[in-house]
Amino acid sequence: MFFNAAAAVVAFTALAASPAHAFWRLSCDRTSLVRERADPIVNPGAKSGHLHVIHGGSNFNLNVTFDSLRASSCTSCQIANDKSNYWTPTLWFQDPKTKQFEPVDGGGILVYYLQRGDNHDQIKSFPAGFRMIAGDMTLRAKKFKEGEGSQGELRERALKWSCLRYTGGQTGYDGYGFPTTQCEAGFQARIHMPNCWDGKNLDSADHRSHVAYMSVLDNGKCPDTHPINFITMFFEQTWDTSKFVSRWNDSRDPWPFVWSHGDNTGYGYHGDFVMGWDVNTLQKAILECNNQTPGTAAGQAEACPHFQMQSADAGKACTIKPHINETTDGTLARLPGCNPIQKGPENATPYNDNNCPL
Ligand SMILES: *[C@@H]1O[C@H](CO)[C@@H](O)[C@H](O)[C@H]1NC(C)=O
Ligand SMILES: *[C@@H]1O[C@H](CO)[C@@H](O)[C@H](O)[C@H]1NC(C)=O
Ligand SMILES: *[C@@H]1O[C@H](CO)[C@@H](O)[C@H](O)[C@H]1NC(C)=O
Repeated sequence: MFFNAAAAVVAFTALAASPAHAFWRLSCDRTSLVRERADPIVNPGAKSGHLHVIHGGSNFNLNVTFDSLRASSCTSCQIANDKSNYWTPTLWFQDPKTKQFEPVDGGGILVYYLQRGDNHDQIKSFPAGFRMIAGDMTLRAKKFKEGEGSQGELRERALKWSCLRYTGGQTGYDGYGFPTTQCEAGFQARIHMPNCWDGKNLDSADHRSHVAYMSVLDNGKCPDTHPINFITMFFEQTWDTSKFVSRWNDSRDPWPFVWSHGDNTGYGYHGDFVMGWDVNTLQKAILECNNQTPGTAAGQAEACPHFQMQSADAGKACTIKPHINETTDGTLARLPGCNPIQKGPENATPYNDNNCPL
């Protein structure tokens, strides 16, 4: 059974508890735009150290600009006039007997756009040329005391896992770091993107210090250093771990799933965003497609007149050829890019092997 986007909504409702704030969902189907070892934010013009699954505007490339993305001929997501790119690492299963790696299907992404913050009329669109990263690929453990409230702790709190189970009354999992049990009904990565901005920089050297989190992560106030309250994005990405249930025994084997950057703890997951909306369109949607517009309270992008919707099939038809010619599918002796598994708890060393033979 594949844990699909409709079921994912249920998992999200607890988070969207405040009825005073609306949201819409951007659905990018499990068929991606492209999977490749590219990351135009961290490694512009070059290979990334690890494999990503990329969604959105078809002009994704090793380098992207606002204008190049806006000129995309299609998008793999369902709001046709959004040409942004959204990407994350990919998930792999490591066979406990052979130690070989197989890609896990899925990776379709739901991007929640949440109108959050103390003053709704102050919520801003991302500016043209804006880009950012949530999460940190080098992390392998939780470091901060829950609820402490520093930006480092909010960044940790921004990333959680959901493991859904349906057999014999077993309990699911909703927490930090990978679970340790089977996830027969689906496995989800869930990350809040930063939602406050310094008002000046479209990017920064670490791709994150130009942005920050609101005081209670997905609500509250922005810090004085980053006073601009953006719309809050939340990525929910579902992976079909069900087909591996018979391949490992959770009371005997270690957790067998690993992110493409050699992370079998989960803490190093990350989400990347490059702005590809028309700024005025996104700003109008933020201000007008809220609870006052019937329909959008339930997150239905269809109810927002500023969006040109397309079918899931039209999204699936929007795919591009990888820019990097290497094997990213099938049973592999090593992860693409030859990333070694770095299990922590100390920070991992970023790995980038341009001579990896795969
Ligand atoms: C991509 O961007 C980088 C950094 O700005 C630059 O050094 C490189 O030449 C660009 N590559 C291409 C193919 O445009
Ligand atoms: C899983 O491992 C446990 C502990 O070694 C064992 O008791 C159990 O029979 C195994 N289950 C299966 C289905 O092999
Ligand atoms: C991709 O790489 C393979 C193996 O190295 C090679 O045979 C093939 O010609 C390459 N394809 C392209 C389009 O460069």
